[in-house]
Formats: sequence, structure tokens, C-alpha cells
Amino acid sequence: MKVVAVFSTKGGVGKTTAAVNLAFEAAKESRVLLWDLDPQGATTFLLQVKPKVKGGVGSLVAGPSRVSAAIRSTAYGNLDVLPADASYRDLDLVFDHAKKSEKRIAKILEQVDRDYDVVILDCPPGSSLVAENAIYTADAVVVPLVPSPLSMRSLDQVTEFVAASASKAPIIGFFSMVDRRKTTHRTTVEQLPGTRKVVTDIVVPATVQIERMGAERAPVTVYAPRSLAAQAYGDLWRRVQATVKVKKGRRKN
Ligand SMILES: Nc1ncnc2c1ncn2[C@@H]1O[C@H](COP(=O)(O)OP(=O)(O)O)[C@@H](O)[C@H]1O
Ligand SMILES: [Mg+2]
Repeated sequence: MKVVAVFSTKGGVGKTTAAVNLAFEAAKESRVLLWDLDPQGATTFLLQVKPKVKGGVGSLVAGPSRVSAAIRSTAYGNLDVLPADASYRDLDLVFDHAKKSEKRIAKILEQVDRDYDVVILDCPPGSSLVAENAIYTADAVVVPLVPSPLSMRSLDQVTEFVAASASKAPIIGFFSMVDRRKTTHRTTVEQLPGTRKVVTDIVVPATVQIERMGAERAPVTVYAPRSLAAQAYGDLWRRVQATVKVKKGRRKN
């Protein structure tokens, strides 16, 4: 089982959007668990899963074997969700009190190692202990970059954060919410991949199709399969797949 963390120090850059769409792309060929680690529960909402964690996430950390009971299926055959609820607000504190506090997510995922080919982690923003846990267990870290001079800074922050952890996970950067009418967006998209090796040339445009996700409560490929955004997430998944080599397989049921 491989683990892919979708992470940035910044909020509102397209992490959840990427996590949901990547998970859908991955589920076309592999068994996927998407773990919503953000108390906002946007991933949980977008995949129409109930935001309820029995006993709160604290009970999951205390008893990792409870994870299977907390996992929910979605409308899509190979894609399951581990939902978030408000109890995730305290996850940092829960980890802080736990032994080997940066290895708690890894410990929980050990329980479902045989059930999934890939786990995608939708991280909350910031350099929290939750993020430390996600990075520790990740085989790759996917980073959305909204093109601006500030995106360089957030890429630097992510790079430092990953370097400071025991993780050897490669970073895979892509451009998110790109508006080609803006000069800074155009120049950043043209120049950054040439100067920073970890930044791919994959561009997710800012589009109404993505905005519609909240109303459709579905991955963009489901209702706009030929959109540029759907294609970009497909490309992004193939890039991730080439890097982490996720096993292919379908569930028997
Ligand atoms: N490519 C895009 N085009 C238009 N809106 C987008 C795009 N990507 C994300 N959004 C919107 O921006 C907001 C923040 O995106 P989200 O994925 O939740 O970011 P994060 O998880 O990093 O906080 C959401 O309302 C989402 O629908
Ligand atoms: Mg999010």
C-alpha cells in the first residue's frame, strides 16, 4: 500500500479539490482510501459521506483497529473515505499526547495495509503535528501551487518541512487555479518548472466546472469528463502513479 499526502502550508489553494479528483482517478485502476484529515470535512462532504466518527478521532488514535469500522464506501466502486468530523479539530492535541507522536497515522494505516493499494491524505493547512504525521508516512507529497511569487515561498516551506522529517517522500508540485489572463500566472507557469525540478508542468485552470463540485458533490470527471480540469487531474494522477508505482487491482465484490 502506498500513501500520497496532498499538502501545503497554505489554505484555499486546492488541496481538497486535488485529493478528491486524484482519488477518483486512482480508483479507476486501484483500490483507494481517501482520508479526510481536515475538521472542515470538505472531502467528506464532496463525496457525500456522513461526517460522523464514532467516539471521535481520539478513539481511533487510541485503538487503531477501529479504523475499518470508521471507513465509509462512496458511490464509486473502488473508492472509500475515512471521514472527518469536528473531533478532528483536536487531532493535534491527541497526537501530542500520544507516544511516538509523528507515527500515529502510519500506525492506523497499518491496519488496512492489505485492503487498499493507495491511501490519499487530504491534509489541513499548516505545519501541524497532523501534517508531520502525514508526511512521515507518505510515499509522495502532492503540492498545489497557485502561481504567484508567494507560491515559491509556500513551496520552500513545504520543502523545508519535508526535509526536516524522517520522510524521503518526493514532492510533486502542480499549478492550481490558474488564470491565464493574469500575467503573473502565465509567467510563473512558464518559468517555475524550469527552475524547480519538483514542479511539474501540470496546470489545473480556474474554472466554473471545478466550482460546481460543491453543488454536484462529485469529482469533476463524473459530470465534466472532457473538461481541461478533469484532464489535468488525470495527468496528475499518472504522474503520481509513475513516481510511487501504485499496485493495480479491483475489489472482488
Ligand atoms: N481550479 C479551480 N477553479 C475554480 N475554483 C477552484 C479550483 N480549485 C479549487 N477551487 C475552489 O477554491 C476553494 C478552495 O479549494 P480547496 O480545494 O478546498 O482548497 P484547500 O483544500 O487547499 O483549502 C473551493 O471553493 C474550491 O471549489
Ligand atoms: Mg482542504
